Amino acid sequence: MPWKRRSFGSNHLSRALNIADLREIARRRVPGFAFEYLEGGAEDEVTLRGNREALERLRLIPQTLVDTTARHQRTAILGRPANSPLVIAPTGLNGMLDPQGDLALARAAARLGVPFTLSTMSTTRLEEVASRAGGRLWMQLYVLKDRAIARDIMQRAAAAGYEALVFTTDANVFGSREWDQRSYRAPGKPTIRTALDLLRHPRWLVEVLGRHGMPRFRNLEAFLPPSAATALGGSTVIPPLFDATISWDDITWIRQLWRGRLLIKGVLSVADAERAAALGCDGIVLSNHGGRQLDSCVAPIEVLPQIVRALGARLPILIDSGFRRGTDIVKALALGAQAVMIGRATLYGLAAGGEPGVERALSILTGEIHRVLGQLGCNSVAELGPQHVRAP
Ligand SMILES: Cc1cc2nc3c(=O)[nH]c(=O)nc-3n(C[C@H](O)[C@H](O)[C@H](O)COP(=O)(O)O)c2cc1C
Repeated sequence: MPWKRRSFGSNHLSRALNIADLREIARRRVPGFAFEYLEGGAEDEVTLRGNREALERLRLIPQTLVDTTARHQRTAILGRPANSPLVIAPTGLNGMLDPQGDLALARAAARLGVPFTLSTMSTTRLEEVASRAGGRLWMQLYVLKDRAIARDIMQRAAAAGYEALVFTTDANVFGSREWDQRSYRAPGKPTIRTALDLLRHPRWLVEVLGRHGMPRFRNLEAFLPPSAATALGGSTVIPPLFDATISWDDITWIRQLWRGRLLIKGVLSVADAERAAALGCDGIVLSNHGGRQLDSCVAPIEVLPQIVRALGARLPILIDSGFRRGTDIVKALALGAQAVMIGRATLYGLAAGGEPGVERALSILTGEIHRVLGQLGCNSVAELGPQHVRAP
């Protein structure tokens, strides 16, 4: 008789052994349209798959017979101490996955001692996150067609004490997430199938819609007509807001309005990294938006070595897109990234079980980093280097 291995079948966070297990709980817990919004990528999802394939192709080379009992993963991110080399990536519409959404992510990050990035498209006001979550807060900026929105976000984030601004540059033209669009018959209008599926998720209906009403883009309410401010519609209601005119000239404008740290998220070439450094940015995030924007796009991990070589120590380099395991994170650190931004991995935790779910995701990732450091013969992330990674 063929041997059948046991796959994950539980709904308990404590039984989730890895991020894929949390994803499975999340898939069962939230309605299909919300999971599709979380999960999907643009067009044929070549970028989405490529992010994972590129990380998996790299292999680790351990050093053996090193005492690693004292190992730890403390590090510095943008010059300030962090308990782990992680940052929670900005994601819009978190309130669709759990009523606490942004607050749950921010609080779990604060408890771990790593930065949390709030999206411009968040479903919680940035002031509320600052007053109720604490911790290191970064604000993500989309420069939309109505420039008054960006100005408002920067002024409010500065007043609320946000440490850094993360300017996302890879959404000048919105990606076509075709799977997500199929949940709607028109922008913001669910299909009958989507609506029927909602009825199969009464807990979500009560907790997310019943108690709080449809999640809304709380940071943008003063600027959007009421019909566009509701988050139902995922990526179908947002595209017309985006501005194809954004350019490097806007960095000067942003610099005038924002005195704190400035990171550019969406850099994937040496030339753009050089330009960000020359314009005095405080860091870059190598990212393809988790495969949700340009399809057939290079994976950030594939261009990391050449960008690290070009920039040296001039600028902190962060990275995201596709990171699901401690091994993935350790590979990026070994190749010169200062920290890894986590997108879907913590969202799976959020959708699987709110704040405890995010905590579970973070503890899985930090536990894996701890184990991998030991297996590689390293006592800290500072000891990691290119000698630990073999390129394909
Ligand atoms: C559901 C979802 C919403 C997102 N919303 C935003 C956003 O509002 N702003 C932004 O800069 N990036 C956004 N991103 C991209 C993430 O910041 C990050 O680049 C990406 O998730 C990293 O890839 P990963 O999900 O494979 O970790 C979003 C990603 C997801 C999955």
